[in-house]
Amino acid sequence: MKALEIIYKKNTKEKLTYSEIEYMVNSYVKNKISDHTMSEFLWAIYYNGLSMDETYYLTDVMIKSGETIDLSSIDKKVVDKHSTGGVGDKITLIVSPIVASAGVCVPKMSGRSLGLTGGTVDKLESITGYKLKITKKEFLNELETVGCAVISQSDKIAVADKKIYALRDEIGAVDSIPLIASSIMSKKIASGSDVIVIDLKVGKGAFMKNIKDATKLAKTMVNIGKYYNKKVICTLSDMNTPLGRNIGNSLEVKEAIDFFKGKYDKRLYELVVYISSLMISAAKGISQRKAKNLVINLIESGHARNKFVEWIKYQGGDLNKLKDNAKKYIVVSPKAGYVNEIDSLSIAKLVHDLGAGRHKKTDKIDYAVGVVLNKTIGEKVNKGDILGVIFYNKKLDNMEELFINSFKIDKKKRNVKKIIIKTIK
Ligand code: URA
Repeated sequence: MKALEIIYKKNTKEKLTYSEIEYMVNSYVKNKISDHTMSEFLWAIYYNGLSMDETYYLTDVMIKSGETIDLSSIDKKVVDKHSTGGVGDKITLIVSPIVASAGVCVPKMSGRSLGLTGGTVDKLESITGYKLKITKKEFLNELETVGCAVISQSDKIAVADKKIYALRDEIGAVDSIPLIASSIMSKKIASGSDVIVIDLKVGKGAFMKNIKDATKLAKTMVNIGKYYNKKVICTLSDMNTPLGRNIGNSLEVKEAIDFFKGKYDKRLYELVVYISSLMISAAKGISQRKAKNLVINLIESGHARNKFVEWIKYQGGDLNKLKDNAKKYIVVSPKAGYVNEIDSLSIAKLVHDLGAGRHKKTDKIDYAVGVVLNKTIGEKVNKGDILGVIFYNKKLDNMEELFINSFKIDKKKRNVKKIIIKTIK
């Protein structure tokens, strides 16, 4: 079987067989075909798409290229949660202990920051002592005793995806729905959960810029789940505005700590409660309304907070010792009005340039830098009010200007867009 024939077949919009896709992926993993040939194959998919069956074949081959995790020894329902990546998205830190405190098991393998969006692993690394690499036995023990665990993505899972994703990133072939769906789902299915809840971000600060494409991606991922008898639930949530008030690694951990102290941003709270309820309702087979009441109770009673503290401590972290050593620069509003927009993309770029994100995989990041939004969308602001605070270690000449320009302040208040757009099951 020849790679060029397979590429030609895809370029002429013919359907590929399982063994043709398997041949391409496995040959690439074993270095039997070059980056150049694989790029041609990826471009053929990028421009011509894949059918649902072909998307499943690609997912399956990528799953089989690595290890799969067997969680069958755990006698609770196991639910995974995945976010496609957003700005200020710290909800894994909050949702995992909430769901675990309801008696549902949450095993999470998370990634580092990618492009402009932050990664849960980087956030957790800003807690002194937190161990992201533990043995499989320790992982299973933690799931049995604590009920949730968050570790870094294993190199041994979906090995082909790792190599192919790096190439896609290099050649600019990331934003293809079948490629994204198979990439995410290969890792999620290999990770062994019964239910997978995906928070699919839509808007300026996300991969998916519009609801139409996001819906297509969501349906593709839900359908992939069906081939494996896994329940996949996909919620589209708004990412035009940063999520919550704090953006930056240790700042986001602080916001999670504040959340459990009862101090929370309204939109963050709404999304946390919604995603937690979806996870619990699917795992326990109860209605979403019942699950929501349970979630609110777990938050208000302090049970979720206790679970949060227990989990971080179990993995060696000291919540009193965050890597948060940065200088503060207070930004005041140059005018009065209502905050109608906060551009998540420009806030993400600012936080990235302050040092919170990477340009290349090997870059070192600054855990302490970022921004806090004192004012958020829908709120009234007077001239001279504090708009927010920039946490920096290397001052950028234009940081104040970039921060202020991310805000759209008008005389008239606009309706605030809902954070939850829709859910596809
Ligand atoms: N996240 C992934 O894991 N894969 C993609 O292709 C895009 C986002």
